[in-house]
Amino acid sequence: MRMLKLIDNLIVRETLTSIRRKGVGAADFRRGLSELGRYMAYEFADTLNYRDVEVETPLGVADGVEISDRERMVVVSILRASLPFSEGVMKVFPEAHHGIIGARRSDEPPFNVSIDYIRMPRLDGRILVVADPMLATGNTMLGILEELGGFGSPDRTVIFNVLSSREGLERVLRRDLDVYTCGVDDKLDDRGYIVPGLGDAGDLAFGRPSECRK
Ligand code: URA
Repeated sequence: MRMLKLIDNLIVRETLTSIRRKGVGAADFRRGLSELGRYMAYEFADTLNYRDVEVETPLGVADGVEISDRERMVVVSILRASLPFSEGVMKVFPEAHHGIIGARRSDEPPFNVSIDYIRMPRLDGRILVVADPMLATGNTMLGILEELGGFGSPDRTVIFNVLSSREGLERVLRRDLDVYTCGVDDKLDDRGYIVPGLGDAGDLAFGRPSECRK
């Protein structure tokens, strides 16, 4: 399955607008990312398996549902910018397993990616959600998917982005996966940033680091 799902209801568009605005503060930026993670997770939940159940209310018995896929899910956070975004996703799926990856991409062509931290549960038979707010060149995501291949074969792989570039989408959608995103921008600049995009999501969420150490 290869599906591109654009989440563009009015609330999502408004939240995306607020975190793209130049000068947005870190607290508002993180809050916005977390909300977008939550909205995306709600939308994604409609594709999960569920069973019909009966629920006893104080006054009788009603028909209801239980999502049966909850404990099959693995949500992957990519340090740093993904943390507030995946936290929003995990609010909707608190039973999900959680994997963490530290990845860094160079700002110069060919935009090489180095992955220096990885803690991951086994992925066989799971529903894998890789949450990264920005899909720019696609190099980071493709490097991560390559690395995740060593942890088993999920039944389904889904990428959650806040903003995606056309180029990044075209590259990752060659794989057998779905992409959920809140917006698609046409261009990348010569540092591989999305234009108009929103800037450096990690710096906006957590401040500019004094230096980059491994
Ligand atoms: N990472 C970011 O934070 N922003 C971009 O535009 C691209 C990659």
